[in-house]
Amino acid sequence: MANQEALDRQGGHPCLMSRRSFLLTSAAATATYTVMVTMSPGSAAAQQVPAAVATYPRKLIGRLSELRVDEPVDFSYPDEEVYSDSMLVKMGVPAGGGIGPDSDVVAFNYTCTHQGGPMQGTYQGADKALGPCPLHLSTYDLTRHGILISGQAYQSLPQVLLELDGDDIYAVGIFGLIFGRYDNLQA
Ligand code: FES
Repeated sequence: MANQEALDRQGGHPCLMSRRSFLLTSAAATATYTVMVTMSPGSAAAQQVPAAVATYPRKLIGRLSELRVDEPVDFSYPDEEVYSDSMLVKMGVPAGGGIGPDSDVVAFNYTCTHQGGPMQGTYQGADKALGPCPLHLSTYDLTRHGILISGQAYQSLPQVLLELDGDDIYAVGIFGLIFGRYDNLQA
């Protein structure tokens, strides 16, 4: 019974994170905060060391009224450097992290998490999937936060976090690490 209630809260889908959980989890990706680390009081080196985490840019990437179901729109995020190519798509079905009245608008990085294969042009509207990757055939489910469906990869596809402001769609962060980077904000 409890499990059924949990499923109901997730729209009946066992693998979908609720929108609230998703936003809470991803908040760490967009927040700017300062952590004060205090060393041993008796130590000569006792001091407070501030640690700062940079904020993702807020970038206008499209307009809700201009999106057509299963027709991806390309953009770059969080910068214009290598591996930043991404896609925005309205899938016509609810998706984890989806925005809009139907929760069906999502965005993902195009770079395969296995060995960096380019997946531009591989969106499959029938399956709401990205892939197969041209290198080793990894395919990702875009309704479930980019989880792997099949292939060699073992990490989900990085999902671009979105905000809707009227008709404007903004990219505001990334959930997951872009291939080839140790920090999404350091190309
Ligand atoms: S690089 Fe995509 S499956 Fe290997």
